[in-house]
Amino acid sequence: MDLAYVLRMNAGNREGSYAKNCFLQKTVIFKARDVLEDAIKDYSSHGFPECFKLADLGCSSGPNALLIVANILDYVRALCQKKNLKAPDEYQVFLNDLPNNDFNSLFEMIPSFHSKVLENESGPEKSANCYISGVPGSFYTRLFPTKSLHFVHSSYSVHWLSQMRSQEMVIHGRMVLTLLGRSIADPTSKDCRYIYGLVAKSLHDLLAEGLLREEDINTFNLPIYTPCTSELKAIIKSEGSFSLDRLETFEVNWDMQDENEKLKPEYSSGEFVAKTIRAVLEPLLASHFGNTLMDKLFEQYAKHVSEHLSKEKTNYFNIVVSLTRK
Ligand SMILES: C[S@@+](CC[C@H](N)C(=O)[O-])C[C@H]1O[C@@H](n2cnc3c(N)ncnc32)[C@H](O)[C@@H]1O
Repeated sequence: MDLAYVLRMNAGNREGSYAKNCFLQKTVIFKARDVLEDAIKDYSSHGFPECFKLADLGCSSGPNALLIVANILDYVRALCQKKNLKAPDEYQVFLNDLPNNDFNSLFEMIPSFHSKVLENESGPEKSANCYISGVPGSFYTRLFPTKSLHFVHSSYSVHWLSQMRSQEMVIHGRMVLTLLGRSIADPTSKDCRYIYGLVAKSLHDLLAEGLLREEDINTFNLPIYTPCTSELKAIIKSEGSFSLDRLETFEVNWDMQDENEKLKPEYSSGEFVAKTIRAVLEPLLASHFGNTLMDKLFEQYAKHVSEHLSKEKTNYFNIVVSLTRK
């Protein structure tokens, strides 16, 4: 299985799409905003370039990609106003994801981004100053010219595999990464074991009903790694090109309907979590087990999640790091 061709989020803007089910990732972006804002503040001590070049790695096809761009532009503008700094004249924004990502849906949102975010805040003449393009390819390959990026952001993407990149960033360039992690060194910790363990449990339900073969389950791997903070620090140190400026952790409830008044609690906890996870894992699971089993699989999953949450409130454990290119 070539991961680069099967890994993608559910496309489009329909009911089960990633775009409609990315509340978790949006909440994570919100909770990591202080670290992002501080990284921009630190970067400004070297002065902003005329053209500020930034990349979002693993941007996916939902609204979060442009939310990140809007946030970064806001932070830069507010900072420049507050500290009387020269703001960048232009922004060049690279939205990266794997080639099968639904870039079309993402591109369709760009005109309204330009009109709402840029024109509202700075007058129509400013809207031409942010140039956004898509960069299809794995962020574990070279995507950008040497020393071309000033700022790299990635949220909820790099836990899919584990490497770091450095050649494409300018000296003093900044990188902010937010990823799913685990709170303790024990790799069998409950942080991620439950969320994916219940997928395994649901697959075994299908096996028991004769809908799957054991070897189908045994040959399936979920290519996700959730490090603990000490592992992440060790990777950054051994890779050597970045200094670690800040590392924070925070948790987000599996069922955000509990905490977010903006989310009408129209689903059971199990259904809500199942929709979030389905939007992310369905293409990968369907490529191995077949499309026809997906409804049944996620019905089982929703039941297991509800049962689990009725006994124990459970959180996603997240790590956000801010790094400087040495
Ligand atoms: C859960 S989504 C997060 C999307 C977005 N950053 C957000 O916060 O809503 C993870 C994204 O990472 C992408 N991804 C995973 N591995 C990747 C790789 N090696 N290169 C580029 N994108 C990758 C996936 O295709 C997916 O769109």
